[in-house]
Amino acid sequence: MIYPVVKYGNTVLEKAARPVEKFDEELAKLCQDMFESMYGANGVGLAAPQIGMAKRLAVIDVTVGKNPEAKIVLANPEIIHAEGEQREEEGCLSVPGFRGNVARPQYVTVRAQDATGKTFEMNSEGLLARAFCHEIDHLDGVLFLKHLGLVKRDLIRRRIRKLQKTGQW
Ligand code: NI
Repeated sequence: MIYPVVKYGNTVLEKAARPVEKFDEELAKLCQDMFESMYGANGVGLAAPQIGMAKRLAVIDVTVGKNPEAKIVLANPEIIHAEGEQREEEGCLSVPGFRGNVARPQYVTVRAQDATGKTFEMNSEGLLARAFCHEIDHLDGVLFLKHLGLVKRDLIRRRIRKLQKTGQW
């Protein structure tokens, strides 16, 4: 099942999500659906709040489906180490049509549970490190807009408000 992605303006995107507690069939199916929804939207990451569910759950695939081994499920993730800095353009499926430069650590180590509840740790760098930070931000109710400079952020917000007023958002 492909879920529609909720957009900026929906309050579910601005709330901290609740921990995943049950690792059952239903969760496995949800993860599958989240991958499908992410691929359908051409994204490299999708967090549960983006489909309207306030759960600490995200899926990532920086190869966008090209390598099945690149699929990562993050349940209850936390960043346990971060180092260095990278500055790249970033976007978000919940803020379609807008991008901005965001500073993120170049190296990130994440601790999380997989879809079965097993705890793992993973080192990352570059795009994957950026995806980890971006998706974990979502679970804390933070969008990439928050990391932009004030002027750029206000500009995007004003443009979105205009789109909202004319029913185009
Ligand atoms: Ni996003």
